[in-house]
Amino acid sequence: MSEPAAGLSEWPRSTRAVGADLAVGGVPLGELAERFGTPLYVLDEAHVRQTCRVYRQALPEAEIAYAAKAFLCRDLVRWLREEGFGLDVCSLGELELAAAAGMPAERIVLHGNAKSAEELRSALRLGVGRIVLDNAAEVPRLAALVAPRQRQRVMVRVVPGIEAGAHHAIRTGGEDQKFGMSVARGDAEDAVLRVLGQPHLELTGLHCHLGSQITSVRPYLAAVATLVAFLAGLRDRHGVVLPELDLGGGHGIAYRPGEHALDVAAFADDVRRQLARRCALYDLPVPRLIIEPGRAITGPAGVAVYRVLVVKRTAHRVFVAVDGGMADNPRPVLYGARTAVRLVGRAGAGRSRRVTVVGRYCESGDVLAPDVEVPEDVHPGDLLAVPAAGAYQQSMASTYNLVGRPPVVAVLDGCARVLLRRESTADLLARDVYEPGEDG
Ligand code: LLP
Repeated sequence: MSEPAAGLSEWPRSTRAVGADLAVGGVPLGELAERFGTPLYVLDEAHVRQTCRVYRQALPEAEIAYAAKAFLCRDLVRWLREEGFGLDVCSLGELELAAAAGMPAERIVLHGNAKSAEELRSALRLGVGRIVLDNAAEVPRLAALVAPRQRQRVMVRVVPGIEAGAHHAIRTGGEDQKFGMSVARGDAEDAVLRVLGQPHLELTGLHCHLGSQITSVRPYLAAVATLVAFLAGLRDRHGVVLPELDLGGGHGIAYRPGEHALDVAAFADDVRRQLARRCALYDLPVPRLIIEPGRAITGPAGVAVYRVLVVKRTAHRVFVAVDGGMADNPRPVLYGARTAVRLVGRAGAGRSRRVTVVGRYCESGDVLAPDVEVPEDVHPGDLLAVPAAGAYQQSMASTYNLVGRPPVVAVLDGCARVLLRRESTADLLARDVYEPGEDG
């Protein structure tokens, strides 16, 4: 994989300085902003595919299901399918899109702490590879929906009691949160027994997801230890040997210079070694590993581009207001996430100055990037770009203030094409179906 240009380590791999601009996938960001408008999300297809290959090479024996919630569109499903990935989905929308885009159903894993009957029925109809059961009541609920001659493969999501992740809202491995069933309390074992009692459900293994934006391998190794001990207990107490272990996703990425991503090669080596060692300890066959990275696949390949609309000096700071904000990227507001910002499209003059980049939404908390350095001559009309913007931004976007969501454009070898078009005001108005009557 070629390295990004100096000083651009958290940008997509193809990012190059071209005159006073940055080009991604061979297309200058200024040109993309002119052509597609702003705010704009840009995704480097080659970077996504290269990352998939890094994962595949590091873990050839594993099944890798990309977590669709990070970002999903039909062309991305094609890239993932071609790169040998599966897909982790958690809603009817993600499931239907995956199927419509040609992801083989057996490579799809359905999750969710509160799946609707419609979601379960669609998963069964499509024949998804696995449904991850999140609570005991779901066992008979799902079993009752399986057709007489069908057998659905399922996993049981367990809580290993391991806290990991960048913010409490995205930690899911500890006891006091809504996902999964506790190993320590015996809930997970109870659910396993319930599944084993259902002839139409085939239990393939255990699932856990510790949290998100995890940059150390250590919590995963702790999870392997806990889960393998639990697998051994199930074998000893109930004579069942489960062939699969899903460690979920959570692999962290760098958002700003100097930040560290989870090292995929180290993750693969250390997890493989830990799995082998722990299984040997209990004389268990090594289960097939499944992982579900989302952010790590699309996050670093994305860039957001905004146009500056206002520069305002107050008694305390300089606010640079752009044409996007908390509705297209809620991460700073939700998790206090910090992001890098860079002037693109022209060379900045003079020294840099510390500013607060804010959005255009009607809340004072709509801050995209507090305390970032931009050239002191930053002015309306300028373009500001944000790296590592390919995950959990566009996918979490809302239409707050009735502003349409930005488009996503793929770039590759000097060409750009729209993956998701901009949401127009007409799109927004079309949902409002009220029609005044004669007297209205
Ligand atoms: N598997 C399961 C069961 C999950 O719940 C998640 C993420 C993943 C895999 C993928 O995790 P990743 O590799 O992308 O970290 N909106 C938050 C992140 C929420 C993650 C929710 N679950 C953020 O922007 O940081």
